[in-house]
Order: sequence, then structure tokens, then C-alpha cells
Amino acid sequence: MKRVDDFRLRLGKQELVPIMIGGMGVDISTADLALEAARLGGVGHISDAMINTVSDRRYETKHVKEKLALYKYNVLNEDKSPVKFDLGRLEEATRLHVEATMARKQGGGMVFINCMEKLTMNAPKETLKVRMSAALDAGIDGITLAAGLHLGSFGLIEDHPRFRDAKLGIIVSSVRALQLFLKKSARTNRMPDYVVVEGPLAGGHLGFGMDWAQYDLATIVAEVLQYLKDEHLDIPVIPAGGIFTGTDAAQFLEAGAAGVQVATRFTVAEECGLPAEAKQEYFKASEADIEVNQISPTGYPMRMIKSSPGIGDGIRPNCEAYGYLLDANGKCAYISSYNREVAAHPGARKVKVFDKTCLCTHMRNFEIWTCGQLTWRLKDTTRRNEDGSYQVLSAEHIFKDYQFSTDQQIALPD
Ligand SMILES: Cc1cc2nc3c(=O)[nH]c(=O)nc-3n(C[C@H](O)[C@H](O)[C@H](O)COP(=O)(O)O)c2cc1C
Repeated sequence: MKRVDDFRLRLGKQELVPIMIGGMGVDISTADLALEAARLGGVGHISDAMINTVSDRRYETKHVKEKLALYKYNVLNEDKSPVKFDLGRLEEATRLHVEATMARKQGGGMVFINCMEKLTMNAPKETLKVRMSAALDAGIDGITLAAGLHLGSFGLIEDHPRFRDAKLGIIVSSVRALQLFLKKSARTNRMPDYVVVEGPLAGGHLGFGMDWAQYDLATIVAEVLQYLKDEHLDIPVIPAGGIFTGTDAAQFLEAGAAGVQVATRFTVAEECGLPAEAKQEYFKASEADIEVNQISPTGYPMRMIKSSPGIGDGIRPNCEAYGYLLDANGKCAYISSYNREVAAHPGARKVKVFDKTCLCTHMRNFEIWTCGQLTWRLKDTTRRNEDGSYQVLSAEHIFKDYQFSTDQQIALPD
């Protein structure tokens, strides 16, 4: 029986271990985690979600404070349209994060950045262009366009000197989304270098409706492979979502996938950015503790642990400081929900808001525990400590388990 290490992911001239660690926003997929994947010969992702916040935390900038000071006058105003990101600071934050990461890169693998197009930042095109260009300037190996797929995104960087040499990939959840993207970006004469096909069991936002359970990754991957074959297009296909063991991964590779993208297994890695207590919640979660709900203001269903402290929390929107989800007109679905509850409870010091969440604040504070469907199996990937807690794993241990294991086995740590 074949194992993952019997295969290689070819991206241009580069040959890689066919394991990609997916981007996990707001610094859950840290530089340390991505760098381990690259050191071991695979592909890691950092994420540019809430990059100014990440930059403040890691590189001692003061972007959030400065933005809040500038727009403080607007805090009680329902209309957030004046609250704009400073493009120079956005560029700086992206550059700092990418440069600091790439300066530490070792080994034969690659580091990409996950760029979620749904972070519309009250000026979708302008901010996305700056985010992508700054990452390319700072030497990122590649960009994975996720969550949103504005069909014109390649066009935003077509004049960049690295447009043809950097790896550019997209995440889709259907053959239809891929067809649309290829049609729309044909003008740039630039195919994606890889296509991540994300199925309904993934973590984060889903590219499906609430009927996600009716879809199946293997079927969608087969459709995508068939379509590319029919069109004589040679684009590596990388399935993602619910690939929990090396054997699961090897099965996709045998069926024609070029690599796999995985994330959930790495949420309990030492290098993962989640706080230690949150990692224990991921270990402890049972299947019944995991839900897909519609509280993300993006409009996409999102999977998370039901006990996430951010669910139901009625914090005042903090768009003057953050504002990453403001659409092109300064609107976010959470603001309307929050204002509705405030109006319904006059005089209340704190309200509860259940239909939407302030995703910026809660992702920043690691209070929405988004996760893959198979999170409940994480407890079977480690040992218990004497105090009953679960032993956190090294990224290297998890990566090598994917790479070398067979027969659905999962290696426990020493
Ligand atoms: C905690 C967590 C956060 C995630 N955040 C993002 C994200 O910011 N952007 C994105 O494109 N995908 C995100 N994902 C999806 C992963 O990159 C990946 O494609 C998917 O989870 C793979 O499936 P698996 O978790 O079952 O291995 C996230 C997944 C997890 C578990």
C-alpha cells in the first residue's frame, strides 16, 4: 500500500512533499508552523487576516491604536463608511510579517500566504491589491486566494514583476467555481499554479450552504480532475477538508490529486497560534460539540466548537480599531444585529447577540474556535498528561505522521 511519501507535488520546477498546511486566520497558522512545513519539504501558509493586528502583536507597530485614535469620533455612529484602512500601514504590516517569516525559512519547501478575499476592509479592491503586492514584494513564495474568490483578483497584480514567477493558487469548492475563475482570469493569460479543492468538512468558512452535509470531497475532486482532463489543463489539484490520516491523504494522491491541504491536525501543534487552553478545548471536543452555524458576518457558514466564548457575546462593534469585514459601503452584518439588540433592550449595560458575531474582535482574541469536522478525533492523536490534559504535539510529529503512516494508523508521540 502506498503512503504519502511515495508521491511528490510538482509546482513548476520544484518538487515537494505533497503536504500543504492550510492557512488559519488570525495567526493560528503562525510563521513557526508554516516554517516547519517548509523545513520538512512541504508547503506552509501564513495568513494575512487582520494583518495590522498581527503586526502590532509581533512587530511592535501601533496600527490598531492609531486607527482607533483617528476614527474615535465615529465609534457610536452606525455608519462606518468613513473608517478606512491606511494603505501605507497595510503595506507595512504585510511586509513586516512576510519578510520576518521568509528570513527564517530553511529547507526545500515553500511558504505561501493565505489571502481571504472576504476581508473586504471597506475598500475591497484597493486593500486586496496592497496585500498581494506587498506579500510579493517581501518575497513570499506564493499566494493562495481564499474565501470569496473575487474573479478579478489576478488582474489586480498582473503588472507586478513577480506575477508570473510567484506561485498563485485558488481555493474552490466546486467545479463550477473553478470554471468561472478560469474564464474570468483568461484575460491575464495566467493559469493558477494549483487549485485547492475544499470540501464540506474543512475548518473556517465553508464554500457551501447549510446543506454542506450533502456534499462529498472525493466526488468534487473527481469532477474537478475530469474537467481539467477534458480541457487539457495541467493544474495540480489539492483536496482539503477531513483528510485526517496519511492513508486518507494517500488515497487522494492515488486518485490523481497532486497534494493534500490539511489543517485540523495542526491546531494542536506547539507551533500553532491558538492559546494553550484553546488547544485543550480542541482535544476535548466530541462530535456533538462541533457545529456549522451562520454567525459569521461574511454570510458564509462557519464551523466551530459550540462552547466558543464569542458565540452570543454582544460586544460593541469595534470597526474603528479593526473593521476588516466592512464591505465596500462600510457595512457589516454584525453592526445591524448589535444595534437591533441595543434598541430592543434600552438601558441594558450589555446585550446578547446570537445571530451574528463580531468576528474581528473574537478572532483576534481567539474566542471563536473554528475547527474542522474531525476535530473530535484529535484526542486519539496524542497521550494524556498526568494532570489529565492532552499532550500538545510538535508540527514535525504531525507532518511526518501524514508523510509516512499507513493502514489508517496515527503515531502517538513518545
Ligand atoms: C482553525 C482553522 C482556521 C482556518 N482558517 C482559515 C483561513 O483563515 N483561511 C482559509 O482559507 N482557510 C482556513 N481554514 C481552512 C484550512 O486552511 C483547510 O483548508 C481545511 O481546514 C482543511 O481541512 P482539515 O482541517 O479537515 O484538515 C481554517 C481551518 C481551521 C481548522
